[in-house]
Amino acid sequence: MKEQIAKIKAEALSALEKAADSAALDELRVKYLGKKGELTAVLKQMGSLSAEERPKMGQLVNEVKASLEAAVEAQSKKLEAAALEHRLKKEALDVTVPGKVPVMGHKHPMYIALDEIKEIFIGMGFTVLDGPEIELGELNFDRLNAEPGHPSRDWSDTFYFDTDERVMLRSQTSPMQVRAMDSMELPIRIIAPGRVYRKDEVDATHSPMFHQVEGMVIDKNVTMADLKGTLNLLAEELFGKGTVTRFRPHHFPFTEPSCEMDVQCHKCGGVGCPTCKGEGWIELLGAGMIHPRVLEMAGIDPNEWSGWAFGMGLERTAMRRFKIADLRLIFENDVRFLEQF
Ligand code: PHE
Repeated sequence: MKEQIAKIKAEALSALEKAADSAALDELRVKYLGKKGELTAVLKQMGSLSAEERPKMGQLVNEVKASLEAAVEAQSKKLEAAALEHRLKKEALDVTVPGKVPVMGHKHPMYIALDEIKEIFIGMGFTVLDGPEIELGELNFDRLNAEPGHPSRDWSDTFYFDTDERVMLRSQTSPMQVRAMDSMELPIRIIAPGRVYRKDEVDATHSPMFHQVEGMVIDKNVTMADLKGTLNLLAEELFGKGTVTRFRPHHFPFTEPSCEMDVQCHKCGGVGCPTCKGEGWIELLGAGMIHPRVLEMAGIDPNEWSGWAFGMGLERTAMRRFKIADLRLIFENDVRFLEQF
């Protein structure tokens, strides 16, 4: 029996040492130390021993058991260390490998210009409004004092959804003036950028979809001087100190008096060139003092309150800001063009 135990011990120790992973180690533990393992089998034979041999043999078995348990523990530690070593090697990070540079897009030049415009007006205490592109004819025309039969209402100019001309793609951002008057407390200072739609053929300066920025102030004692001062400041902030502007008389149904503001051409400095079509000036916006009838229709007393409004073409502004010669470049989204800004 002694020999049997010694043999088990020797065999087990050498096998444990060779266990290559924790599963193999566990299998060996069960084989030698488990309930149905080899040592337990030996213990079961103890009945055949003499009374004085029995305790000695028991002690021996316990010793062997303890040394096998220690061997299992030691081998398990060894395997764990080896596994960790292996993982550390495998997961080693070479920080000297050059990284992959993600290709990042950036803002469209027109939106860069819009952000600058917003900054300028927010700095003067204006709120930025957003409004619907599908608009009611009532707000786009009636409430803006454009009488039935006004040329801007013509089907050759405007995209209507119905024959009653009730719903349309807005042809200007000016209905936002009405929406602001209807929903905000006085005094009001707002700008409202957005898309507008007109039945125009595409050329170097026209597109059936383009962008405007509407601006409006209603307060007490507001005058044309405030309008000119604000718009001249806008031009200088956007295009640089010393930018030359001019105001020409014009007509809009919803402002009186009305004007258009031009900026001196950036290409020729006012001499005349293809970019400004020989004019020396680029038309940037329409503006004027809000018509008393428009205020009245919104329930605002024109004897107490006055205001001004403007509507500027955003594409044109971006073209002037970034010296872009052709409107189509703004919409074509050719990356080679856009990357320059
Ligand atoms: N809505 C006018 C246009 O599209 C511009 C404008 C806005 C004029 C506000 C005066 C006041 O031409």
